[in-house]
This record gives sequence, C-alpha cells and structure tokens, in this order.
Amino acid sequence: MSRPGAAGGAAQQGGATPGFARGRRLRGTPAMRRWTAQTRLSPADLVLPVFVKQGISEPVPITSMPGVVQHTQHSLRKAAHEAAEAGISGLMLFGIPGDKDPVGSQADAADGVVNVALQQLRADLGDELVLMADLCLCEYTDHGHCGVVTPAGVVDNDPTLDRYAAVAIAQARAGAHVIAPSGMMDGQVAAIRAGLDSAAHTETPILAYAAKYASGFYGPFREAAEGAPQFGDRSTYQMDPPNADEALREVAQDLAEGADAVMVKPAGPYLDIVARVADAVDVPVSAYQVSGEYAMVEAAAANGWVDRQRAILETLTAIRRAGAGSVLTYWAVEAARWLR
Ligand code: PBG
Repeated sequence: MSRPGAAGGAAQQGGATPGFARGRRLRGTPAMRRWTAQTRLSPADLVLPVFVKQGISEPVPITSMPGVVQHTQHSLRKAAHEAAEAGISGLMLFGIPGDKDPVGSQADAADGVVNVALQQLRADLGDELVLMADLCLCEYTDHGHCGVVTPAGVVDNDPTLDRYAAVAIAQARAGAHVIAPSGMMDGQVAAIRAGLDSAAHTETPILAYAAKYASGFYGPFREAAEGAPQFGDRSTYQMDPPNADEALREVAQDLAEGADAVMVKPAGPYLDIVARVADAVDVPVSAYQVSGEYAMVEAAAANGWVDRQRAILETLTAIRRAGAGSVLTYWAVEAARWLR
C-alpha cells in the first residue's frame, strides 16, 4: 500500500496526502468496479451436471436440490437446448439405470440410459455443447460402490479398471466429447486412455476428477443419482479432507497417465486445493461445485437468510478467483442468464 518515503500515518487517517493509492477511489461506481474487476464470470465458464433416469415419464424433482430434476430423455433434450441457448460450455451427464447389478452392466450397454442420452444429444446439438460423460459405476451397481467389490465387500481396483475402459469406449461411441472418470481408482486414467485408443477414440480427451475428496457435501447427489453405498463408505478410495499435498500427487499421477484436463471436487470448501492445482499445472482446471454446496445456499435463501442471486454469484466468482478455468454447477444455466 504505502510507497517508499510516504508517511504511513496519513494513509490511516484517510489518505489525504497526494501520492497515496486509496482502495476506495476505484470502487466508487458500478462501472468503476466492473472496469477494475480482476475476476470475470461468463457463461462459457460454466458446465451443467444433469441426471437422466430410465423408465420415468415425467421429470422427478430432487427434494434436497430444489430446482434440479432427474430428467426423462425428452426433458433432457429440452434442457440441453436451453443450456446451449444460455451460452454455457457443456453438460456433465449422469445416468440412473432401470436395473442395477454387481458390475454395473448398464453403464456400457449400448441401450443404457446415459448412452442413449449421449446419442440423442449429439444428434440434436452436434458440437454446440461439450458433452461430458461422468464415468463411474456407483449409479449402476446394486451395492452402490464406484467399482466392483470382492466377496469380502472391498472395492477391487484392477477388475474395476477393465470395467471403466469398457464404459469409456461405450460413452465415446455414443457421442461423448469428453470422458470424465470420477471413481478414484488407481490407474483409471491410463486404463481408460488405453481403452479409448484401442477403439480408435484417440481424439477423445479425458477430464480426470483428479482431486476428489470423500466429502459430506455429496449427500444430496446420492438422492439425485441413487448411488449411495449400501455398506461402508468411499473413504478408502476418495481423498481424506485434511490432505492437500496429496491432491498435487493425484493430479501429477493423472497427468502422467494421460489426463488432458483435471478437476478438483468439491469446490467451495477446497479453494486452497483449486489454487494450488491451478498454479501447479498447465492444463485446464475445472472445479465441481457439488450438490451440498448447492443445497446449502438454496436452503438459506429459501429461509430469507441470504440473498440468493448474490450468494450464488459470489460462490461462482470465488471458485474462478481461486484459479478454476471452468466451474461445474447446478446453477449453470440460471447464472449464465444473469451474466449475459
Ligand atoms: C460418483 C460421483 C459423486 C458425485 C459426482 N460423481 C458422488 C460420490 O462420489 O459419492 C457428487 C456430485 C455432487 O455431489 O454434486 N462417483
């Protein structure tokens, strides 16, 4: 703040001395604040996660996420058109199958719910939006874990990798522009890259959920995606919240395995991780503002405890300010409309 030779006392008294930079000089009008804003938020920064469910004829509201639904194929197509119109960059697709089994067969079935959705959206929209396919088994397995499990109930890393590779190929074939593995198995990026390359999908990039924490903020998502673990939890494969350096190791590992872009998740409670990852890498960094972050603001706003629009835009700006190039958020379309 103070320049060499300047009298510090004058600044504290209100900066009357010529030559002092004053914070308030640059904050006087909305136009001045817009001019000096260091972080900008625009529709292209946003990606909308969407849920599509098999066997429903009307969209099903998710009670813990007011405003978010499980889509039918039809309502999803409509929502995708609206997203394109609002100018956001892409969609992250999650499927909820009619049938679940121990290996999550519906994840890579050609007529599986998400693969049908990808085909239709790609046919409808071409390349207008980036269609990202979340790649995990938890929505598709009857036990709700992100991989296949041993008879003892432990998630079995390497057999899961074979499943992930098969799912990636099915999603790319169905029309996904980006494959986004979120299961946190060791070696998943390498296995998926090899699978995609073997099926002539060498041009399909991988957005790795590289630093994904075992978070309490996923609660509402488990209602939305119907993928809550039926026993145990995910703390043996997702990261432990106290750890930060480990996030950099996970990111470095995923990049070494061939990830084209990386993600930090959740976003708001992990802005330090977003900042460190953004500083450390030279690939695009996304941050996922998860279901619990959404639900908290919606609940507070519904009670009149925070100004909804202001709080939403502040959270999104903070995630961008920390260094994320792109933000996955359930408010993507609504926020994009505010920002145009
Ligand atoms: C599945 C997955 C989860 C989320 C995205 N992909 C849940 C989990 O890991 O339990 C959470 C997203 C959200 O809470 O909005 N692996």
